[in-house]
Amino acid sequence: MSRCGDVSLCVLAFLLNLPLALGSEGYFWHVTDNHIDTLYESQQESCNDVFSTEELGIFGMPSCDCPLIFQKSFVGAMESLGPAPEFIVWTGDMSPHVKNESAFKPESVVVASIENVTNLIKEAFPSTKVFPALGNNDCYPKDQLQPHNSTLYTAVGEVWRNWIGEAALQTFHKGGYYSGTIREGENILILNTNLWMVKNGLTRNLNDPASQFKWLEDELERIKTAGEITHIAAHIALGNNEDSANSDLTKKFSDRFNDIVVKYSDIIIGQYYGHTHADTVRMINNKSGDKIVGSAFISPATCGTSWYGGNPTLRMVRYETTDVKLTDIWQYYMNLTKANADPENAEWELEYKFTEAYGVNDISTASLTKVVDSFKETNSPYFAKFIRYRRGMSTSKYNEQSCDYECKKGILCGIEHIWENRFKQCHENVQSNGHVTKVNFYGFIHVCFSIYMLLH
Ligand SMILES: *[C@@H]1O[C@H](CO)[C@@H](O)[C@H](O)[C@H]1NC(C)=O
Ligand SMILES: *[C@@H]1O[C@H](CO)[C@@H](O)[C@H](O)[C@H]1NC(C)=O
Ligand SMILES: *[C@@H]1O[C@H](CO)[C@@H](O)[C@H](O)[C@H]1NC(C)=O
Ligand SMILES: *[C@@H]1O[C@H](CO)[C@@H](O)[C@H](O)[C@H]1NC(C)=O
Ligand SMILES: *[C@@H]1O[C@H](CO)[C@@H](O)[C@H](O)[C@H]1NC(C)=O
Ligand SMILES: [Zn+2]
Repeated sequence: MSRCGDVSLCVLAFLLNLPLALGSEGYFWHVTDNHIDTLYESQQESCNDVFSTEELGIFGMPSCDCPLIFQKSFVGAMESLGPAPEFIVWTGDMSPHVKNESAFKPESVVVASIENVTNLIKEAFPSTKVFPALGNNDCYPKDQLQPHNSTLYTAVGEVWRNWIGEAALQTFHKGGYYSGTIREGENILILNTNLWMVKNGLTRNLNDPASQFKWLEDELERIKTAGEITHIAAHIALGNNEDSANSDLTKKFSDRFNDIVVKYSDIIIGQYYGHTHADTVRMINNKSGDKIVGSAFISPATCGTSWYGGNPTLRMVRYETTDVKLTDIWQYYMNLTKANADPENAEWELEYKFTEAYGVNDISTASLTKVVDSFKETNSPYFAKFIRYRRGMSTSKYNEQSCDYECKKGILCGIEHIWENRFKQCHENVQSNGHVTKVNFYGFIHVCFSIYMLLH
């Protein structure tokens, strides 16, 4: 019997297969903030709480960084959760947070931490392109990444030499940034946004630390002129914080970065960041704020201590490889409580598929705009989901119940305003609206009380 007894069925099968043959959906892994802590069992230097030996989970704790066994687990998950990825992007903070840096995290420990996890990934993915970036914790003292050639860039450059290549090593040595090629016409720019950090005392008084802006503009111009497109990835995202009214980036640097990203938004097909250990997005407005020209994704931590609690996560970004268009995020997580209770059967579960979870067709800027708009509704079910996913399904310290009016408004200020002026303005409005509400409430009580007194 022939496999296609019915001709129309054959045609249908052919048509159904066609997009697979032509369009080809692929994916890449976005790893970030995996924070290896080789002193986890012996020192608890990265922990925000104190645990007895029995309490200390084998894979890690929400308030600690993560041991080697965890690092092996996430690399194993990347191998088993899908066919071969198109590439891997790794946005920094490979090294631990420690309380006493001089004792426990000199530069040699930073380099050894990076080397350790780099080796695990190389073993598992010997022929995959990997694009790593440095995080603010990948430095001693932390946050102080140098605006010029340094022993750190030289040493880490050696560890990553085979991944980033000889040509890219030149700029990596100069300032920890470089450009890579995924395939012909599809570029990726890896930035060292730590150079623009408020806390970085080495760069504050400079105009263009390590000439990274100049390089970024030149690269984007080259890509545009060639009719190509690019991804952008780095540790600290453009824009501002969601958990406070502060910014991680110095205003003059932040504004300039935004200007560049807005100007070249038509050739930037995706932006991926980490650092805040929170699952969220940035909507990119032009300077006067009336037009959304792009968006960026911030991935929660693969594993890292957080004051808010949090489960380990792993992000698969799905995309059309031929016309290069982001289609979905499949977010995986490890239930740390469950994994620690039964280490033999520890598993990485699908947390959500973005399109299904938020009811959109893809993860384009237009779709994200819809999702963010839906967050603004009172009792928005999508916002409730967003909060649940924010720290990898952790319900320990940060959940729907604890995100009140001000918390929600603050998060929205962070999502919608990449320009510091507008972000601060947004926060002031939240404060004053909260204040007005209270005044009105007390005013109302006062009126009630007066009426009560009049009546008696
Ligand atoms: C950090 O460790 C060094 C060396 O062990 C020690 O001298 C110093 O007192 C420690 N600092 C703190 C704040 O504990
Ligand atoms: C990673 O570090 C651990 C613990 O310090 C060590 O035993 C192991 O050999 C290292 N592995 C690699 C691949 O560097
Ligand atoms: C500066 O970079 C060069 C390669 O570009 C390297 O050989 C040299 O060791 C670096 N110097 C320092 C101080 O790191
Ligand atoms: C932003 O976009 C809007 C709508 O296209 C336009 O009217 C406005 O001039 C733009 N602002 C800037 C600063 O380019
Ligand atoms: C994680 O596992 C624990 C223990 O099995 C369970 O109580 C909890 O509900 C799980 N969390 C999620 C988000 O599934
Ligand atoms: Zn981190």
